[in-house]
Amino acid sequence: AGCQEPIIPENVFRQEGRRRRTAAPCTVVIFGASGDLTRRKLVPALYNLTVEQLLGAGCSLVGYARREKSHAQFREEMHGAIQAFSRRKPDPAIWSGLEQGIYYCQGSFEDLEHYRQLKAMLDGLDRERGTGGNRLFYLATPPSYYAQIVRLLGESGLAEEMPGSWSRIIVEKPFGHDLESAHALNGEIGDVFQEEQIYRIDHYLGKETVQNILAFRLGNAIFEPLWNNRFVDHVELTVAESLGMEGRGAYFDEAGILRDMVQNHIFQVLTLVAMEPPVTLEADEVRDEKVKVLKSIRLLSPTEIYRSVVRAQYLGGAVAGKPARGILDEPNIPPDSRTETYVAIRLELESWRWAGVPFYIRTGKRLPRRVTEVSIHFKHPPYALFQSESSSSPSANVMVLRIQPDEGMSLTFNSKAPGQIMRLDPVRMDFNYATSFGAEPSEAYERLLLDCMIGDSTLFTRRDEVELSWRYITSILEAWRRPDAPGLATYEAGTWGPAEGDLLLHRDGRRWRRL
Ligand code: BG6
Repeated sequence: AGCQEPIIPENVFRQEGRRRRTAAPCTVVIFGASGDLTRRKLVPALYNLTVEQLLGAGCSLVGYARREKSHAQFREEMHGAIQAFSRRKPDPAIWSGLEQGIYYCQGSFEDLEHYRQLKAMLDGLDRERGTGGNRLFYLATPPSYYAQIVRLLGESGLAEEMPGSWSRIIVEKPFGHDLESAHALNGEIGDVFQEEQIYRIDHYLGKETVQNILAFRLGNAIFEPLWNNRFVDHVELTVAESLGMEGRGAYFDEAGILRDMVQNHIFQVLTLVAMEPPVTLEADEVRDEKVKVLKSIRLLSPTEIYRSVVRAQYLGGAVAGKPARGILDEPNIPPDSRTETYVAIRLELESWRWAGVPFYIRTGKRLPRRVTEVSIHFKHPPYALFQSESSSSPSANVMVLRIQPDEGMSLTFNSKAPGQIMRLDPVRMDFNYATSFGAEPSEAYERLLLDCMIGDSTLFTRRDEVELSWRYITSILEAWRRPDAPGLATYEAGTWGPAEGDLLLHRDGRRWRRL
């Protein structure tokens, strides 16, 4: 006794278990309540939080949108949304409880008078339902309305926090379209709300398996000592989707996949993979470390960008046996669109831990299947003592963090193959989230809505994070606009992307992990 040294800084995961995870009563106000996000994600998430009894009694929802609608109509629509999109189908008793707290407020986003009416409605709910002046505003409108809504929330007094109550705002993506616009938006929101009131949402951070990256790394003593440039050869991060435009052509044509996926989701995953252990899991401790990763990404000159960043568009092809048209034939895409639907990036982090370790990122629409994973490729043993069947030295160890689907983790290592000779073959050790825990991970929006109600901003993006990530992305966007920028590559729908994407790794003597 007394001789065991704690190896993991034990305070890192301690607080979470103790923290109260039930929200105080509040009213959630969704701006843009007629949109897809409300039906597909937000209301199903509120329903599931209700089922799990995580919302305070009296929690209410106000849908705010321009169309005329009665409370009853809105309730009916939301019931349909839960039926269609929730992971649990509506239970009549639970729904009838929730339904009583759902209201609709018709209003324009531009008219101060309508915000005053909203305020009167919320004050009334505080009295009737005991929501105590706690308000969560959710911006689910097209982003061009964000600044205006925030300004009018300020002018109508809705952003102000009364003693003992809170007012918070969740801002959906896209948060700006380049560094300048993100900076301006931060300024506009910051004029009205304090940073502690602002929750910039990135739903990838609400995914259990994304949070599991830190749990794997820092809740175990065996991985972290290897998590650096002494042992890691390179890291791959893939977010592949089999879907195409799915009716979002107009939005996507403006955005492109670099803005749609890399600036936010992929960079968030990257920071969790690469960050230093925080001292505690307090929001700012974690985000300080993530910011350091974003600061350490080496900025590239335009010529280096042409070599290190590949962009491409999908042509017609077939995905999972079904014919798929090319992006230029999708609705709301101009026939001369140059929007990228695939991007592959080789980037480097300038830090003691990661110097010399390339990070390869790829994401694309209309790839063969949906899969998000991070793979850590370790170095070969220092001396090749053994032979393998397929090559002169055994394959390197690979650790794969499977974010979705088939959530889990696997580790590939070498073992002696049966027989009279000493020959090594790779074998795999596998952890599967659903099998081990007997449960599917919950939906990202459930966790994030609850965190915001509780006032925990750990899984939300801080102002400096969003701007640093745009700094890197904007440098690429600017290089692409130069006349000497190489053209867009193409790939057939249903393939793993263009040859140029493979070349990015071949040039370094590597190749993408086969998925
Ligand atoms: C969204 C993007 O933020 O994320 C979509 O706008 C993308 O284009 C989606 O399809 C992917 O999210 P998920 O949770 O399905 O991986």
